Amino acid sequence: MSSPIDDLHTVRDYLRYVSSRFADSPLYFGHGTDNVWDESVQLVMRSLHLPLENNTLFLDARLTREERSLILDRMHRRIEERVPLAYLLGEAWFMGLPFHVDERVLVPRSPLGELIQSGLQPWLGDKPVGRILDLCTGSGCIGIAAATVFDEAEVDLSDISPEALEVAAVNIDYHEVGDRVRTVRSDVFDGIEGRYDVILSNPPYVDAEDIADMPAEYSHEPELGLAAGGDGLDIAHSILARAADYLNPGGLLIVEVGNSWVALQEAYPDLPFTWLEFENGGDGVFLLTAEDLN
Ligand SMILES: C[S@@+](CC[C@H](N)C(=O)[O-])C[C@H]1O[C@@H](n2cnc3c(N)ncnc32)[C@H](O)[C@@H]1O
Repeated sequence: MSSPIDDLHTVRDYLRYVSSRFADSPLYFGHGTDNVWDESVQLVMRSLHLPLENNTLFLDARLTREERSLILDRMHRRIEERVPLAYLLGEAWFMGLPFHVDERVLVPRSPLGELIQSGLQPWLGDKPVGRILDLCTGSGCIGIAAATVFDEAEVDLSDISPEALEVAAVNIDYHEVGDRVRTVRSDVFDGIEGRYDVILSNPPYVDAEDIADMPAEYSHEPELGLAAGGDGLDIAHSILARAADYLNPGGLLIVEVGNSWVALQEAYPDLPFTWLEFENGGDGVFLLTAEDLN
């Protein structure tokens, strides 16, 4: 029986074939790309360890048999098992930086990257940043990205999941920030000590109804990283209850709650939430100062 492996030879052939198969499959794109073409380019180019941009030089290069079967195998797993591409590749991009990911952590996709890249402006102003906490860190993407922007700051990456912290530790080593960035196992604030200038968090916030309706790709992610009770706010409530005790004067608390933002605002009518806007999409991220919380 003939297999595509006998008919497809070049990078261009594989980009075309993977795109056609993806377009003909009921895939959901919510883990780093949002369309068939970008997903196909990422699968083919990154399986070959080639760059995602400025790569036209390679389009007519022929693949080895091993490379061809690797790409076809990943393509089949993406289509048949609905595994997010980031897990198949073992990498995801956040704020333009590569992070190791596997099924122990959520695939990074928070809009907080855009805010971190701007140096938390205009909210931070010229306040110095000595300590940052990335609460519910998963792969460590948010805290490590912050450490690259605030290159003098000490950064703690905390999570309740020891498996997630193992992945965060791999990323600390990969980005060579181990002199300033460390992991801390903690159930919300239970294992946290001292005060911070900035607390960043993308906690679990999916409500029970949305969990039940999620596309198959999300079933590969740890449920601990997604579900947060009936209204999705279990962890957000715990953060708001205690954040003031962990912020320095003038400190910032920035938390993503996604679609659960309406329920959160209704639950705290007296808190002066600032809901942030993002050029590259995303919503449901609030900012409060230490003074707002007090
Ligand atoms: C939505 S994921 C976010 C991961 C990462 N910050 C990101 O943006 O990709 C939430 C993370 O919160 C962690 N988590 C869940 N419950 C927690 C709790 N009670 N205390 C601390 N971390 C928790 C999960 O293990 C998971 O890694």
